[in-house]
This record gives sequence, structure tokens and C-alpha cells, in this order.
Amino acid sequence: MERPVVSTVRLMNILSEHVVGEQVRAAPRAAPPRVDLSGKIALVTGASSGLGRHFVKVLARAGATVAGAARRLDRLEGLADECRAEDQRMLPVQADVTQRASIERALQQIEAEAGPVNVLVNAAGLSINKSFLEHEDDDFELVMSTNLEGTWRASQLVARRLVAAGEPGAIINIASIFGHRVAKNASSYCASKAAVLHLTRALSLELARHDIRVNALSPGLFDTEMTHHMFGDHGFAESMVGRTPCRRAGEFSDLDGALLLLASDASRFMSGSVIVVDGGILNGSL
Ligand SMILES: NC(=O)c1ccc[n+]([C@@H]2O[C@H](COP(=O)([O-])OP(=O)(O)OC[C@H]3O[C@@H](n4cnc5c(N)ncnc54)[C@H](OP(=O)(O)O)[C@@H]3O)[C@@H](O)[C@H]2O)c1
Repeated sequence: MERPVVSTVRLMNILSEHVVGEQVRAAPRAAPPRVDLSGKIALVTGASSGLGRHFVKVLARAGATVAGAARRLDRLEGLADECRAEDQRMLPVQADVTQRASIERALQQIEAEAGPVNVLVNAAGLSINKSFLEHEDDDFELVMSTNLEGTWRASQLVARRLVAAGEPGAIINIASIFGHRVAKNASSYCASKAAVLHLTRALSLELARHDIRVNALSPGLFDTEMTHHMFGDHGFAESMVGRTPCRRAGEFSDLDGALLLLASDASRFMSGSVIVVDGGILNGSL
């Protein structure tokens, strides 16, 4: 069963109002941005949960044909059912981004069932919550292989196809504010996300001549399976809200505008850019 993510965030906002003793702002109810993605064929990795799962729905509602990839196929099939109930089609494809052959198979399946991918959202990711001194080599390698190398592999496989076909495309790498600044007990994650930001710039330089734009989206803190432990008793999330100029945690819909901009031709002159959606915390007062 799905966790009521948004209500947890709201509860956290109410709690942090007491902790920081300051008015926490409610998320304004805004109509979703209107962007037409018809004709686009999008692949979202990390689609079985959290942000990737949300991105599938946002892109599908904007008219894209969307494939969602992750290791847990049952989760993806559940998402496809939800999309169908909204009259949208989502193609569930099992893929492990740490394995090149697995991504290759997923792309072949998408091509056969929907067509060639021209929008790639690299959202598959994980974090190991351990101090630097406790980190094992295997921990570091898993984080790098998923967050950085997974983005590298999927981007390369999609870009090679687009270049061979002479077609334009857009790649959106989901980075993190932890790639710009650092936090304790997340050294491998911070390093992987900083590398994703730099990879974004390097790929944009090489792929622009092929009309493939590569940009990054850096979210602040959102309550998902990966971050849920931060929203518990230990107060990290509350303390982050206290330091966030917008005085609230993120809700998934806060990311829709940036995602749709980067996926659509509205960002046709943007490449190598990073959009930070964090309520202003990176710009917080010292
Ligand atoms: N939540 C936040 O506050 C936050 C902030 C900044 C950035 N981000 C980034 O946003 C992205 C999504 O994270 P989330 O917070 O939504 O976490 P999440 O709910 O835990 O989702 C992570 C997703 O990645 C997939 N995944 C993990 N390893 C994979 C692999 N080897 N192959 C394919 N898929 C894999 C998982 O699917 P399976 O387990 O089914 O494979 C799952 O769908 C990550 O890149 C994360 O770093 C999150």
C-alpha cells in the first residue's frame, strides 16, 4: 500500500512550526503547468517509488508516452494500472541501472512497444546512511554504480540511439542539493550527486551538436522511501525546514514545473543547466 507521503510532509511542517517557532507556510495550491508533450517518448528510471513514480504521472498527464523502469516490476505494474485509470498509458519495464545489458533490454522493449526514447529522466538512486568511517567499499560502489554510473549508462545508451537516428532529445538528471552542499553520514551520496552535476555539464558539451540537451534538476528534501528516516524522531528534516527560506518541506508537485520545462521544447536553448527546487535552502542565511 502507498504511504500517504503528502500528509506526512504536512505533519512534519506543523511539527517544525513548533520546533522553529516560526510560521510555516502551506504549499500554495497551483494549477499544474500546461505543457504539451505529445509525440515525446519518455523513459523514467527509478519509477517504482518516490520522485520517479511521480514524474511518470506528470509526464503522462502532459501527453508523453511514458515508460517507467526499476527493479520491482510489481510496483511498476501497479503504477501502470493507476495511469490506465486516468486514461494514460504507461509501459512498465524491469531494469537495473547498474547493469548495462539490463538497460539495453529495457530500451529494446520500449522501442518495440512504444518507439524510440527521446526524453530520459535519470531518477534511479539510493543513499547509504552511514558515517564515512563506517562506509564499506561495497557501500560506496553501490551508490556510485546506481547514482552516477546508472545515469552515465542510461544516458549513453539513449544518446547513441538518438545520434544514430539523427533525432533530438532531452536528458534530465535528478541530482540533489547534497551535490552542491554536504551533509553528515552521506559521503558516498554527496560525492555521487556532485559527480552527476558535473557529468551533466560534460555531456551537454558533447551532445549539444546532436540536438540532445542535458540538464539537471536538484531537489531539496522530499519525503520518499529513501529519505523517510530523516522525517522521524531524529529531527533532521525539521531542522532543514527551519533553515529553509520558504519554511516548508517540498511536496512532489513542487517539482512539476521544472520537470516539464526541461522535458519540453520550452527549454530548447537550455543545456548544461541546473535547476534547484529546494525552497531556497541552498541560499539560506549563514
Ligand atoms: N527524496 C529526496 O528528498 C531527494 C532529494 C534530492 C534528490 N533525490 C533523488 O531523487 C531520485 C529518486 O529518489 P527518491 O527520493 O524518490 O527515492 P526512492 O523513493 O527510494 O526511489 C528510488 C528509486 O530508484 C530505484 N532504483 C534504485 N536502485 C536501482 C537500480 N539499481 N536500478 C533501477 N532502479 C533503481 C528504486 O526502484 P527499485 O528498488 O524498484 O529498483 C526506486 O524506484 C534519486 O536519484 C535521489 O537521489 C531525492
